[in-house]
Amino acid sequence: MIQDYLEAGYPAIYLLTQEPTRAEQLLPSEGWKFFSWDCLQGIRDLQSSKPVDEIRDPAQALNWLNSLNDAVLIAHNMHLFLDSPEVVQAIQNGVSRWKATGCCLVMVSPMISMRPEVEKFFHVIDLPLPNDDELFDLQNELGKIHNIKVNKKAARAAKGLTEFEAETAYALSLIRKGYFSTKVISEAKSQMIRKSGLMEFWEPADIADVGGLNNFKSFIENRSKAFNPDNIQLPQIKGILLVGIPGTGKSLASKATASILSWPLIRLDIGSLKNSLVGESERRMREATRLIDAFGKAVVWIDEVEKAFAGTRSSGETDAGTSAAMFGHFLTWMQETKSSVLVMATANQISQLPPEFIRAGRFDATFFVDLPTKTERTEIIKIMNRKWGSDIPISCSERLTGYTGAEIEQLAKDSLFDGLEQAFNALVPLSRTMREEIESLRQWAKTRARSANSWETEPDEQRKIRSVYKKDTVGEEISNEYLPAQSEQ
Ligand SMILES: Nc1ncnc2c1ncn2[C@@H]1O[C@H](COP(=O)(O)OP(=O)(O)O)[C@@H](O)[C@H]1O
Ligand SMILES: [Mg+2]
Repeated sequence: MIQDYLEAGYPAIYLLTQEPTRAEQLLPSEGWKFFSWDCLQGIRDLQSSKPVDEIRDPAQALNWLNSLNDAVLIAHNMHLFLDSPEVVQAIQNGVSRWKATGCCLVMVSPMISMRPEVEKFFHVIDLPLPNDDELFDLQNELGKIHNIKVNKKAARAAKGLTEFEAETAYALSLIRKGYFSTKVISEAKSQMIRKSGLMEFWEPADIADVGGLNNFKSFIENRSKAFNPDNIQLPQIKGILLVGIPGTGKSLASKATASILSWPLIRLDIGSLKNSLVGESERRMREATRLIDAFGKAVVWIDEVEKAFAGTRSSGETDAGTSAAMFGHFLTWMQETKSSVLVMATANQISQLPPEFIRAGRFDATFFVDLPTKTERTEIIKIMNRKWGSDIPISCSERLTGYTGAEIEQLAKDSLFDGLEQAFNALVPLSRTMREEIESLRQWAKTRARSANSWETEPDEQRKIRSVYKKDTVGEEISNEYLPAQSEQ
């Protein structure tokens, strides 16, 4: 693993891992003597696992390496002692000597925590998590002991777990089910995401509960072919942005994507990843994407993405810089990841999004979600009647021109208490109060987004929906450019 670096004469390596014991097993290579140090056991010889010296003091342990040739000292949790001037000095003094004598210090730590005084001496490497073969071998060993048949699928499901986590997950599965169960192991893997505190699992929505948005639905269904295990040729989509009016079902459609693909749904809240410590937000973002990769197949849902950028102007440069850096990493990851992940981002506005975020090519598709058409409203009425036990007549879909799905749902709920007529009169649709915003969003979308709603089957609907605002804004001229008949010719 580190042989190349040792041969090249690197005197100091920083090994990032949550698995110190596994690191000790994997690191030793021909030509060097390997020792390990920790602050309780002192120095041990890794070949014989015999204690060599009882040195507990970290600075002394580093000095100990000065007297050797071609030796590697694996120092556990040394990063916790970097606040000591003696330790910092011992590293600075040691580095040039170690380089000359073929020695190397390997600091093993789960996180990068370095001091500027020594930062430049270290080369940072990640210890990769166990691969498919290692996970399978682990299962094999356990299976032999208990005389239980191995399950290759369950070994693959363990991908992303540390050796320790995989072992305990296998053991749990044997206790619960008596065999290596893919399901038990996948559940154990969800723990990894939960424990991180960086993301949450959400219940996917049923696609039958999404009214309309047929263009979007068929896009996902069509592109999902690329996720079939036997597909080798079709490119996989990585990210979709849904832009539109609040309450039109963007969040709902994102959640339903997970059930179309039969993947788990992970919600990533950018705001909660942010941290005021310098560099910490970006580190958390990197950790989140690393975990998603380790987790494997998932729909990653970022709701109301514009909020992560909101306030960036008022609270100054640093915050704007942090958001930009976080998203920079995220977007690069999204394009480069080899995992089967689909990012579903939603936005109610585009004015707050930085241009590089919505730039063509970042997302595989941008959909604009407009107010529902008549057919869509009919579907939504049926869904809401079923969901709430209301009985809004289908004929109401005409009257509900300009109402969003969320508003139709509100009507369904209110009608249970107040009756339909009163509920209807009490409801003022957003499309009346947000006329300008909606129109400018629509204009933006015209050239930059696909339509999630299938207007092509209802050519008159768009004009009808717009005429609703016209009626409601008496005395206020609607600008001509917004009238479809003129602007679309
Ligand atoms: N097209 C739709 N089909 C069915 N229900 C809808 C639709 N649009 C909105 N709703 C209802 O309104 C709720 C809020 O919608 P949401 O998905 O949060 O909208 P958005 O994210 O676009 O603001 C949904 O949970 C759902 O109950
Ligand atoms: Mg929403």
